[in-house]
Formats: sequence, structure tokens, C-alpha cells
Amino acid sequence: MRIVILNNSDDVAAYGAQLIIRQIQTKPDSVLGLATGSSPMKLYDKLVEAVAAGDVSLSQCVSFNLDEYVGLAPDHDQSYRSFMQKHLFERVDIRIENTHVPDGLALDPEDMCAQYEQAIRDHHGIDFQLLGIGANGHIGFNEPSSSLRSRTRIKTLTMQTVEDNARFFRADEFQPELAITMGIETIMESRQIMLLATGEHKAAAVKAMIEGPVSASCPASILQFHPKATIVLDTAAAGQLENTQFYQRVEQEAQKFEAK
Ligand code: F6R
Repeated sequence: MRIVILNNSDDVAAYGAQLIIRQIQTKPDSVLGLATGSSPMKLYDKLVEAVAAGDVSLSQCVSFNLDEYVGLAPDHDQSYRSFMQKHLFERVDIRIENTHVPDGLALDPEDMCAQYEQAIRDHHGIDFQLLGIGANGHIGFNEPSSSLRSRTRIKTLTMQTVEDNARFFRADEFQPELAITMGIETIMESRQIMLLATGEHKAAAVKAMIEGPVSASCPASILQFHPKATIVLDTAAAGQLENTQFYQRVEQEAQKFEAK
């Protein structure tokens, strides 16, 4: 794991954006795995700026989102398809037909999940997967106790996740407690992974992910097995780590090496 600790969420977004921009510049037809939620929002703003400035183009990229709520239509305000349209897809030059988000209204969800996996395989896998982390250590909507070998499927959300995400829903609005999510093994097959975490409320999950045992109790801990995973944190999210100085020293050395 490459562990990068930065001062604040703006720096995290800038660093993350640079990594994803470099990926697309190197491989313009990159297959991107994308996330919703608060964590990637500033990064998406920076990507929008870079496209507007002509520094990068998503016109040949293909994207697969991690997850979607069961029971929400794509045009529902709180659907993850709507989130992506609003925060990224409608603001950059990606072709909408190249963007994939699981269908929350699929009549045969099992078949839809199998087709989602097949579509990823048809595009030769995900080059670069962007992740956030839940306060309980989930990635995608793979909640604690999810199989570390899981594939795309329907999952029941924990009450903590439902409560954490309640801020996006009006008090009188239906909030789903089921989601379709890429599986942990699906995520792990990505060639490169970058996870962003900011804020003190993520500090315990970040510690379990980086310094805890690999365990289904903290699904994100599986990233310890990934050969190319970068974890980008602000100091608040890194607040419970025990070996911070070591990670900072390794990162300084890595940057010196890359600058050569
Ligand atoms: C979103 C997703 C989730 C979030 C996680 C963190 O597509 O898959 O795993 O990344 O719940 O959410 P935020 O970023 O809102 O704290």
C-alpha cells in the first residue's frame, strides 16, 4: 500500500485528481471504476477543471460505478446515476453510452449483476478504481462480513450506513436499505486502486484498513493484498495511525525517486 498523508481535503482531491489525470493521459481509453459520496466530489471538480482547460479528455474513457440503490430509478434525485450525471458526466466530455451504473430497477437483479460483471470483462477489466471508505470499513457497499471473494450482487446496508447516508435524503423521502454493489473480488481485480478518506470520522476505519488484520470485519483491509493501491488521507483521517512517521518517510523517498 502506498500511504499518502496530506494537510486537508483540498490537497487530497488535488493529489487524487493528478493521479487519475495521469492515468488518462497515459491511456486515453482507460476503463475507470468510479465512486459516489462526499469523498470524490472535490476530485471530480478538479477533473472537470482539467477537462475544461484542455489538459485531459475523457472522450475515449469507459466508466463503471461501484454501486446503486435498489429501488431508485436512474433519474431519481438520490440515485447514484443522478449523482454521477450531476457531479461528473454532464460536466466533462465522456460519452454517456460509455458510462455504466448498476440498474437499481432491474427486474432480474441477479442477471443484471452477471451482465455488469460481463461488461467489465468485455472491456478487459478496470484500469483505475476510485474508492471511498465507510466509517465501518466498507468499500463499495460491501459491508463488514461481506465475502472477500464476492462479485457484483445485492447487499443489505447496515443501519450505520443507512444513517450515514440519510443526510442525502429528505426526511419524508424513501431511503433504500438494499444496494447493488461490485463485489470485493471484482474491485480487487482492478489494475490500480486509489482510496480517498478525509475527516476524523474515518480515522478508526482507516486504522483498521492499514494496520489491522485482513478481515471481512473491515472489508477495506483486503487492499493490503493489492499490488498497486494508493491510500490518500488528510491528517484527520490518518489521526489514529501508529506508524505515520514511517509512511511519511517512505512517501518522501518515493517522491524523490519519481522526480529523478
Ligand atoms: C460510494 C461507495 C461508498 C462510499 C463510502 C464513503 O459509491 O461505494 O463505499 O465511498 O460510503 O462515503 P463518503 O465518501 O460519502 O463518506
